[in-house]
Amino acid sequence: MADLDKIVSLAKRRGFIFPGSEIYGGLAGTWDYGPLGVALKNNIKNIWWRMFVDEREDVFGVDAAILMNPKAWEASGHVAGFSDPMGNVRFNLMFETKIGAGEEAQKTYLRPETAGGIFVNFKNIIDSFHPELPFGIAQIGRAFRNEIAPRDFVFRAREFEQMEMEYFVRPGDWEKYFETWRREILRYIEVIGISKDSVHELEVPDNERAHYSKRTIDFEFDFPFGRHELYGLAYRTDFDLSAHEKASGADLHYSDPETGEKFIPHVIEPSLGVDRTILAILCSSYAEDKLGGEKRVFLKLKPQVAPIKVAVFPLVSNKENIVSKAREIYSSLKLHIPHIQFDDNGNIGKRYRRQDEIGTPWCVTVDYQTLEDQTVTIRDRDTGEQVRKKETELEKYFTDVIS
Ligand code: GAP
Repeated sequence: MADLDKIVSLAKRRGFIFPGSEIYGGLAGTWDYGPLGVALKNNIKNIWWRMFVDEREDVFGVDAAILMNPKAWEASGHVAGFSDPMGNVRFNLMFETKIGAGEEAQKTYLRPETAGGIFVNFKNIIDSFHPELPFGIAQIGRAFRNEIAPRDFVFRAREFEQMEMEYFVRPGDWEKYFETWRREILRYIEVIGISKDSVHELEVPDNERAHYSKRTIDFEFDFPFGRHELYGLAYRTDFDLSAHEKASGADLHYSDPETGEKFIPHVIEPSLGVDRTILAILCSSYAEDKLGGEKRVFLKLKPQVAPIKVAVFPLVSNKENIVSKAREIYSSLKLHIPHIQFDDNGNIGKRYRRQDEIGTPWCVTVDYQTLEDQTVTIRDRDTGEQVRKKETELEKYFTDVIS
């Protein structure tokens, strides 16, 4: 298992993740994603959205406001119960903020989970789309918690992102769909390249579950600092919709289109943290070996999640015809594969090392032979092996392996 210090240092050195507000000495529990971190984040969010929303017919996506009417957080139990014991007092983890000015200012909170914005839109989705049970509402967005002890890099932050879904079911069906989403979480873990052997399911005991849950499985990961929660899967019963119905006065019942029976649906919630996903991917993919007699560090990222898919180099940077040919290949490939890079800095060995460290699966090199027979070399990140391919075959070759 990779050492956390090595991952933190690679992440900073190569522009994945920086400490928040660093030039002011930082701000505990905040992290800024640099260009490669954003690209990695977008890839894992896009894959989640594709698998959990776009590829399905029964899930609706939303993007709700972070600021919500504080009554929603009273109803959900977060004002009374979302706290950490600190000595004899309990400390609420929600960040307070004020809306408006002066005497009129109203206290509210930054959302501690994206789920809240989903429950308050249940009625909107029913009224606009008339879905039949079972159906889900999904959202990706920021959540904020005033964690008492933020630590372990992005693992426990005060501002982070979640990918959440509330999947509404008939009360008697909850066990079946709990199992469905358990499998979907495992499938997602596999697709994005988190090491499966490092993931363990933990049945959370009664006294440790969140106030709203009747059953929870934590998907734990063997992080370098120990085995800890990566994702959660909870059966939240009808707790939230019933509480919001009572507090808001809105009718949050579902009417069965066939029998006319009215009831409050129960809900299964797969909840995945974006930042913990990134950390688990970095831990799973960090590798060191010896290649060509030299020690190297590389990230064995899957092509689908890698921030840069292909790097294009001229073998030498002082031969005009080789550089311009490499530029030409780079520009035409970029039209089809936007996440590619051109690099003519330093010698070729240094360029390979740089790309290895950021997990670029392939490097294409234009050399003297290219000018004669229009072939280039493609170097594989993991094995260092090189093959020659026709320049005209590159686009199809890469689009096939990336998808
Ligand atoms: N809606 C359910 C919910 O929020 P949770 O177990 O408190 O449940 C869900 O959080 C996921 O959000 C966690 O499994 C984790 O991936 C992520 N998460 C929670 N707190 C976090 C923090 N302080 N920093 C980074 N990620 C966090």
